[in-house]
Amino acid sequence: MSSLYVCLSTVLLWVSGRGYEYYYNDWTMRGPDEVIAEEGQSAVLPCRFTAPFPGRTVSGSVIWFKKDSLSRHVPFNCIYYGLGHSRSKLCENVIQKDGGNRYRFVGNLSDNDASIMMEGLNQMDSGYYKCHVDLDIGNFESLELMSLRVRAAGGNVPVVSGTEGGSVTLPCMFTPPSGITLQLSVTWMRKEPYQHKVTFRAQSNGSWTRVNGGNRYELVGNPKKGNASTRINELSVKNSSTYLCLVEHKGWNKNKPNDYLVQNETRLQVFQITELFPIAMLSISLGLKLLALLVMWIILLRDKTRKEQE
Ligand SMILES: *[C@@H]1O[C@H](CO)[C@@H](O)[C@H](O)[C@H]1NC(C)=O
Ligand SMILES: *[C@@H]1O[C@H](CO)[C@@H](O)[C@H](O)[C@H]1NC(C)=O
Repeated sequence: MSSLYVCLSTVLLWVSGRGYEYYYNDWTMRGPDEVIAEEGQSAVLPCRFTAPFPGRTVSGSVIWFKKDSLSRHVPFNCIYYGLGHSRSKLCENVIQKDGGNRYRFVGNLSDNDASIMMEGLNQMDSGYYKCHVDLDIGNFESLELMSLRVRAAGGNVPVVSGTEGGSVTLPCMFTPPSGITLQLSVTWMRKEPYQHKVTFRAQSNGSWTRVNGGNRYELVGNPKKGNASTRINELSVKNSSTYLCLVEHKGWNKNKPNDYLVQNETRLQVFQITELFPIAMLSISLGLKLLALLVMWIILLRDKTRKEQE
């Protein structure tokens, strides 16, 4: 039995530049081979799967393993009771703490997504991770491990601000993984609430097109130069949040194609013009009043010294 399992388990397909994709008994699971993020920031560990009974509402657990050289432990797990169940939110808003790190479920089991986000990364988080779903229709995990590499912090998280109705460029400067790599896509996710915003994909002629998401977004940086900065037009105060920029790279590692997901954080603050205006007016008028007081005080002082001299 176990030899059959091993034999069938080798039915493993490396889809060029699409990360691992593992098939077994009508189940599939896929994600990038390596996630690269910065110390102090956050990273999404993606995991998508398909189950043998498409369309069926499922319930069950999501479990993430971390594998060290010696053991494997469970930094994250949550139970999902199914769509419409009063406790169905259990997985959706789960945040778990583990040695100071925070793990948050950002997937949606009804949508075959078991992704999590790790916040406040430190270099000890680097390692190998595995996604496992334990559902009422069976359980599944990929044989492949996903590597998380936490790089030393390269500086503070950039903060940009804009005003309502205006536009702003969200910076996304990234260092590609070592070796020869090619950029495939740039995706922006909002952190809270966790939401996909836009995806740009590289075309064979070298240009980039928006394939998914709002038309308020424009890729203005040159990803070839490690710059995936993106402009947001028609800003609204509601857009204030932290965003994650995910740049998907294709490369080769140990003679097999590898899919790398390089992630970066950026913070956006959007102000209402009417919010800024009174403050500006107030400070100007306050400044004028202070100046007038100062002038009066100088005149008084001068008169006083003059009187004393007389
Ligand atoms: C999860 O996915 C299901 C099916 O696609 C969808 O109906 C539901 O709105 C999603 N839930 C959230 C919180 O996005
Ligand atoms: C990245 O690209 C944007 C848009 O072209 C540009 O304004 C910005 O200066 C670039 N950043 C760096 C560090 O080169």
